[in-house]
Amino acid sequence: MFTSKVYTERRNRLRNKMQSGLVLILGNTEASYNYPANTYHFRQDSDFLYFFGLDHPDFAGVIDIDENKDYIFGNDVDIDDIIWMGPQPTVKEQAVKVGVNDTEPFAGLAEFLKSAIAKGRNIHFLPPYRGENYIQLEKLLGTPVAKIKENASVELIKAVVSLREIKDEFEIAEIEKAVAIAYEMHTTSMKMAKPGVVEREIAGTIEGISLAMGGPVSFPIILSVHGETLHNHYHGNTLEVGRMMVTDAGAETTMHYASDITRTVPVGGKFNQRQKEIYEIVLDANLKTIEAAKPGIPNLELHMLAARTIASGLKEVGLMKGNIDDIVKAGAHAMFFPHGLGHMMGLDVHDMEGFGEDYVGYNDEFKRSSQFGTAFLRLAKRHKPGYVFTIEPGIYFIPALIDMWRKEGKFTDFINYDKVETYKDFGGIRIEDDILITETGNRVLGKPIPKTVAEIEETMGS
Ligand code: GLY
Ligand code: MN
Ligand code: MN
Repeated sequence: MFTSKVYTERRNRLRNKMQSGLVLILGNTEASYNYPANTYHFRQDSDFLYFFGLDHPDFAGVIDIDENKDYIFGNDVDIDDIIWMGPQPTVKEQAVKVGVNDTEPFAGLAEFLKSAIAKGRNIHFLPPYRGENYIQLEKLLGTPVAKIKENASVELIKAVVSLREIKDEFEIAEIEKAVAIAYEMHTTSMKMAKPGVVEREIAGTIEGISLAMGGPVSFPIILSVHGETLHNHYHGNTLEVGRMMVTDAGAETTMHYASDITRTVPVGGKFNQRQKEIYEIVLDANLKTIEAAKPGIPNLELHMLAARTIASGLKEVGLMKGNIDDIVKAGAHAMFFPHGLGHMMGLDVHDMEGFGEDYVGYNDEFKRSSQFGTAFLRLAKRHKPGYVFTIEPGIYFIPALIDMWRKEGKFTDFINYDKVETYKDFGGIRIEDDILITETGNRVLGKPIPKTVAEIEETMGS
């Protein structure tokens, strides 16, 4: 946990950004896995962690915007809980650590909110993402579950985004710890990528590294020789020479800050000529966009720079043809690069995505594109110092998409389909790093993870 001052200041800053009323931040409850008492590992809600810091189930926080008071609602444990879970600090003892002096049993929350509503006060809440909290909000506010999302406070969403999107030095230090764990996960994955190994042996080993060094993985590990499936969670393939293996994996620290790194390596440790050619294009897109990242530049511009770099690289190897600007304007590159360049990262690996991507990545200046590919860009707006985000270009050969576009006669001026046919067994390549925008430019967070062809071959051979 950070010092109590950090949480008090965050709540005060939120108060200053809001007009009036109460802000209700529900923490998470335990979530059942396959029967009620067998639960997933507890994960606290990220907004509760941000403003109230306590990593404990069944709490709610209230920030009174008009009265300069904060409350935590939660129950002290009884003897049954102590027998099963060991001794626990009281709610009051925990609340003091995050600068909150007013605590009440959870049952008092409904009455507290009811009396505020009766006085005509506004209750601001964020969009929930778990069923339990939908039901809780219905009980507390009398709003039917179906109406909860549309009644979430846009004023609160915008205020929270404006705070959480700027990472302070303590948060950056946590994220660097998460990248340090990812370093161990990814170099281990590289060294294990030998023919005959089954993907799950590697996925399981590196998930264990995350658990041993910090917390759980920050999202289910993507590890596959079929990297052309962007979020491939199937880990049953046996590795064979000639295939590229994508590992997209990150860790949470004990304080729940995330990392999100992707590396792609040739099974067996040596790139063949074709793999190297495509790899160098993706690496070029990764390096060029990192170099260009600085305050004031729109992330949309970085995305388009990646698109142009990929299109011109693919043209050089004969997979695309025509004028690069025309290719990118038409969206033809998206057959190979059908996703966005990246997203904000922090307490959530896709930071604050639960509010709605457009509140986080777009604003009045940037409207989401409707073009296939660019439409999936999660972050378009201009960068500011303190932003932490991912840069993750990729090239994929997706047989179903190739077949569909070819059949539709799509972009035949730009795509050399005959040559593309010969790459249908290639798979995919993605290279992802975590970037901090500084006052003057940017910094790639954490200890550098092998990325060039030479660095990867050296690591895999060691
Ligand atoms: N972890 C999925 C992604 O890279 O965004
Ligand atoms: Mn990733
Ligand atoms: Mn990512």
